[in-house]
Amino acid sequence: MWSLLLFVIIGLIGSEISVDALNCTVRPKGSSKFPKTFKFGAASSAYQVEGAWNVDGKGPSIWDEYLHEHPDLVKDGSNADDSVESYRLFDSDLKALKELGVDHYRFSIAWPRIFPTGYVNSKNQKGIDYYNSVIDKLLANGIEPVVTIFHWELPVNMQKFGGFSNSFIVDHFVDYAEQLFSLFGDRVKTWLTINEPNEMCKFGFGNARVPPMIVAPGIGEYLCYTNLLKAHGATYRMYQEKFAEKQRGKIGIPCNVNYMFSNDSDVTNRGMDFEFGIIAHPILSKSGDLPPIVLHDIAKNSQEEGFKRSRLPSLGKYWTAIIQGSADFLALNYYTAGQIERPTGPVGAIPSFDRDNNLTSTPHAFENCPQASTYLRFVPEGLEALLKYIRDKYDNIEVKMTENGWSDSGGLDDYMRIEYVKNHLQAVLNAINDGCNVTSYAPWSLVDSFEFLNGYADKFGFYAVNMTSPNKERTPKKSARYYKKVIKTRKLNHKV
Ligand code: BGC
Repeated sequence: MWSLLLFVIIGLIGSEISVDALNCTVRPKGSSKFPKTFKFGAASSAYQVEGAWNVDGKGPSIWDEYLHEHPDLVKDGSNADDSVESYRLFDSDLKALKELGVDHYRFSIAWPRIFPTGYVNSKNQKGIDYYNSVIDKLLANGIEPVVTIFHWELPVNMQKFGGFSNSFIVDHFVDYAEQLFSLFGDRVKTWLTINEPNEMCKFGFGNARVPPMIVAPGIGEYLCYTNLLKAHGATYRMYQEKFAEKQRGKIGIPCNVNYMFSNDSDVTNRGMDFEFGIIAHPILSKSGDLPPIVLHDIAKNSQEEGFKRSRLPSLGKYWTAIIQGSADFLALNYYTAGQIERPTGPVGAIPSFDRDNNLTSTPHAFENCPQASTYLRFVPEGLEALLKYIRDKYDNIEVKMTENGWSDSGGLDDYMRIEYVKNHLQAVLNAINDGCNVTSYAPWSLVDSFEFLNGYADKFGFYAVNMTSPNKERTPKKSARYYKKVIKTRKLNHKV
């Protein structure tokens, strides 16, 4: 509480913060200005902002279906049927984007809005018209569209056969992506395939925290990771084969990574391989396939548990070749860090990801750092460490930051969000000054929206939305005023 107050007071007087004592800040190192080529943006996702869940021919997604049947899953019992109505009110979002002066806008396409059944023979022209108009309006205003192909709203039909736990999804995902490239690729040059494999696979297929709510720990997550890697890799190859020469776009995959702090570098490396390497190693490493430690330990555990084969086998030569190198850049989402240590006894059920991972969270980690209204703690050092880890481990691949944000319970005077963005941008700038190839930043999120299991109770937006007014007006918070100045000056110290 005191740390939070201190941040707020310092934010109010607009001066530098000394938070050594808090252990949750980064000190400026090197140039204080972002390079001219660095791009600033803002981000959102279809299910969270569009509303219009069954309007103009849109089909149902697993989130629509599940939350209609189980409103109890969400903190305030809400769903995204209407949300902030970006489908009807995109011009209000556009106005906010123009006010901020962003270079790009990250948004996602809702698969069932364009293909209501999920299969590409079910084309919905009105859905296509909507995204054409969003893309055209952005470009007409000098804002680059950065498009996520899939941000979790799987068409219900695709889940009937297991969704991402069934390899049949690979072909259907590629078919869907191919349609997007041919419909929009003349204008969209930055594509993000599948949002946050960790959150999707662990929470959706391991411990049933989010739709499709599969309880299959130690098995479901790994089927999901494997099919997701194949769908991503095959999409990349298809783009290279059919579109790259003409369209000249770039493709990446957005990973949410908590940097894993520990006093022991072996523990950090293990934690990072299980947290990030499961996706990053097959795509970005020189050797390809899953991280050796992950393959080895899961095979060993599987054998001890009496399974006839590993619960997470190697991707094999054929798929390793397709997946390896299947990204032109890494799209990175960063919210907070973890602190881990070796367990003193057995961890996790048999079988489970936790048992395979075989690490525990350090008690009281970061308890001096402010905590947001959601789980996340204010740990910007984690971002600087993560960017350097990526530089060193994955050959300094280009990193586009596609999410980073702070949640609160509302209000326009969001000084903590300002401090969060300022400190995390400082971490990015320090990393750039230290040779990391970070080229853009898009905070989460443009406007307050439907925050999945937290409903509308927790807010990440730079703009507040009047949910009770017919036109759901967007109002800039203090953080929007701050971010606008950052974009204009490429520097971080501003009073608002
Ligand atoms: C997701 C967003 C979400 C944000 C804040 C990310 O994991 O990609 O959709 O709103 O976190 O919780």
